[in-house]
Amino acid sequence: ALFSTSSSAMAPTNIKNITVFGSGLMGAGIVQVAAQNAFNVTMVDLNPAALQKGQDIITSSLKRVAKKQFPEDAEKQKEFIDQTMSRVKTSTDSEAASKDADLIIEAIVENLKTKQQLFAMLDKVAPEHTLFCSNTSSLPIADIAKATKRTDRFGGLHFFNPVPQMKLVEVIRTDATSQDSFDSLMDVCNRMKKTPVSCKDTPGFIVNRLLVPYMMESLRIVERGEATPQDVDVAMKLGAGFPMGPFELADFVGLDTMQYIVDGWRKEGKIDANLVAPVKLLDDLVAQGNFGRKSGQGFYSYSGVGGKK
Ligand code: 3HC
Repeated sequence: ALFSTSSSAMAPTNIKNITVFGSGLMGAGIVQVAAQNAFNVTMVDLNPAALQKGQDIITSSLKRVAKKQFPEDAEKQKEFIDQTMSRVKTSTDSEAASKDADLIIEAIVENLKTKQQLFAMLDKVAPEHTLFCSNTSSLPIADIAKATKRTDRFGGLHFFNPVPQMKLVEVIRTDATSQDSFDSLMDVCNRMKKTPVSCKDTPGFIVNRLLVPYMMESLRIVERGEATPQDVDVAMKLGAGFPMGPFELADFVGLDTMQYIVDGWRKEGKIDANLVAPVKLLDDLVAQGNFGRKSGQGFYSYSGVGGKK
C-alpha cells in the first residue's frame, strides 16, 4: 500500500489498438493522427464508399503533413505516408473490428439513439478491458454511456476540426469514469502529440460552451443591423487574434451543425436560455440548404476546392 498511487488494483490500460467508428471528417482525422503516432487503427463505417471517402481525407491531409515534415524530399514523404497508411485498416464489420480494440472512439452521426445503439452492441462484443469514448460535441457523455454496463470505462475524447492541425483534445470524465480510464485517455492524447484538458460532462465542455454562444451573438449583431458578417470577421481576426472570424468559423463548422447544437441545448435547458435563443438568420439559411462550406454556400460562397469566392 505504501507504493500504491491508485485506489484501484488495475493499472491503466496500455492502449495499442484503436478502433474508430465513423469515417467522416472527424473520424478520418482521428484515425490519421492515431496512425501517425504508431497506434494500430481500424476505421469502421457502414459501407465501402464511406470508407473510401475517409481514406481520401486521410491521404490528402497526410500529403500536407508529409510536405511540411520532409520538404523537398519526395521519397521520405512517400515513406511517411506509406508507413502511416500501413497502420490503418478499414472494416464494415463492427463486431470483428472491435475484437482487438483497446480503445474505441465513436465519431458517427450526432444522434443520441444511434450512438446508444452502437455502444450497446459494442458492449457485448468488445473485450472487457476496452475503453469506450465518444467524440460528441453536444450530447452528454453520461447519456451515451448508460447504454452500456461499462460506465467506469467510458469517457469523452473531443477533437477539433481540422484534427491533424488542432492541438487540443478535451478529455471528458463523467461521475462514473474511473481514474484509471481517465489516466489512460490522457496518456493516449499525449501519445497522439495532442494537448489534453480535463472537462466535466457539461454542455459544450469548455470550447463549444464558449464558442457557440459567441457565434450566436455574432449572428445577432448582424441581425440587428449593427455590422456586416465581413466586418465582424475582420474585427475578431484583427482585434482579437482569432484565426477565423465567427462567420467563417460557422461556415467551416457547418450551419446545420450549429443549429443542431443550439436547438439541443435549448431543449436540454441546462444553460442560460438567452445564450441559445434561436436566430432567424441561421434558421433561414439552414432551411434553404445553405450549410456553409460543405454545401458551397453559407455566409460566404465557396468554389471548387473549398476556397472562399
Ligand atoms: N490536415 C493537415 N494539416 C492541415 C489541415 C488538414 N486538414 N488543414 C490545415 N492544416 C495545416 C496547414 O498545413 C498549415 O500548417 P502550417 O501552418 O504548419 O504550415 C496550417 O494548418 C494552416 O493552414 P493554411 O495555411 O492552409 O490555412 P489557415 O492559416 O487559414 O488555417 C485553419 C486554417 C487551421 C483551419 C485555421 O483557420 C484555424 O485554426 N481556424 C479555426 C479552426 C477552429 O476554430 N476549429 C474548431 C472548430 S469547433 C470544433 O471543431 C468543435 C466541433 O465540435 C463543432
